[in-house]
Amino acid sequence: MSTEIAQTDTDLATREAVERAVSLLRSGEVVALPTETVYGLGADAFNAEAVAKIYETKERPGFDPLIVHIEGKRALDTVASVPPDISRTVIQLVETFWPGPLTLILPKTDAVPDIVTAGLPTVAVRMSAHPVFKRVVRGLGHPIAAPSANRFGRISPTSALAVRDELDGRVPLIVDGGACSRGLESTIVRVEAGDPKPRLVILRAGPVTVEDLKPFGKPEIAEHNEAVENNAPEAPGMLASHYAPRTPLRLVAGPAEFRPETGKRYALLSYRGQEKDGFLGLADWDEVFVLSPGSGKLPEAGIRFFHLLRQLDQLPVDEIIAEPVPERGIGLAILDRLRKASARS
Ligand code: TXA
Ligand code: MG
Repeated sequence: MSTEIAQTDTDLATREAVERAVSLLRSGEVVALPTETVYGLGADAFNAEAVAKIYETKERPGFDPLIVHIEGKRALDTVASVPPDISRTVIQLVETFWPGPLTLILPKTDAVPDIVTAGLPTVAVRMSAHPVFKRVVRGLGHPIAAPSANRFGRISPTSALAVRDELDGRVPLIVDGGACSRGLESTIVRVEAGDPKPRLVILRAGPVTVEDLKPFGKPEIAEHNEAVENNAPEAPGMLASHYAPRTPLRLVAGPAEFRPETGKRYALLSYRGQEKDGFLGLADWDEVFVLSPGSGKLPEAGIRFFHLLRQLDQLPVDEIIAEPVPERGIGLAILDRLRKASARS
């Protein structure tokens, strides 16, 4: 199969790209589409055979469920039945964060084929804010099931060329919507009734932060070790190894923890590229890539993270050393990806 890349840099090109994507999706094909978080590999969520192609194309194991992307808030009821005891909170979250990088886990309706949820009684739902994605999902008239458009366990793609690196020859079409404006996958939250506040269980940290969620309940980071041991991941990166570069990556807690070995070549993924953080002078780095040069801004670090990781992975070095980022805000999501990228299992 040859992979076409459709541009969206003019109105006419965008219209053609959207039409082409919709027509492929209608005929049961998979298409790579831009979202504000990362690129997705989409199929018609109501077409079980088309959804099966997503798993095949990504080489994704059948136990790992997909996210369903809806065209508008009102379409939520078609894919999920919101339990009355959490409906107020769900409405508040949807009104605040949709369209945007928040995915909610809710009981599914019969309209959602089992293959989408890997047999789970719940469905992951989000509404993307990307203008091109919005037009495609509206044009299709059905929700779009879409995981990140990388091969299973690999680095999530944040540009059309990154998708091509991952899936060239495996998909008929990549719609190029430019670089992703968030750069990290959506925050996944399961809402549970609670007294005095509802519990907001964060299954995957993302651009919507703990601080953002606080006004709506009690955010808690899910404990996922048990799920990993049973090989029954409750969510994404619940598998210990994920987002993995081919070159080994090591996340170090501080400069004292790293001593270069002679003869080995190293690249550094630095948070803000400052001498005073103690990493720059530690080794004769082959390359230093900086997430957010200067004072260090976590949203900027988030946007650049997967892009830089992908570039680092192309260098002829023996190991990538990653500085830690601050453990707050979007830093939690970056640290989560770094830990999984450094796990070699
Ligand atoms: O930002 C995003 O969320 C991107 C874009 C394309 O929307 N999508 C994405 O999909 O990151 P994916 O498949 O790479 O990660 C979604 C994760 C899955 O690994 C899965 O474990 C979790 O969401 N998930 C899906 N359905 C679930 C469910 N019913 N319960 C718990 N976790 C679920
Ligand atoms: Mg993924």
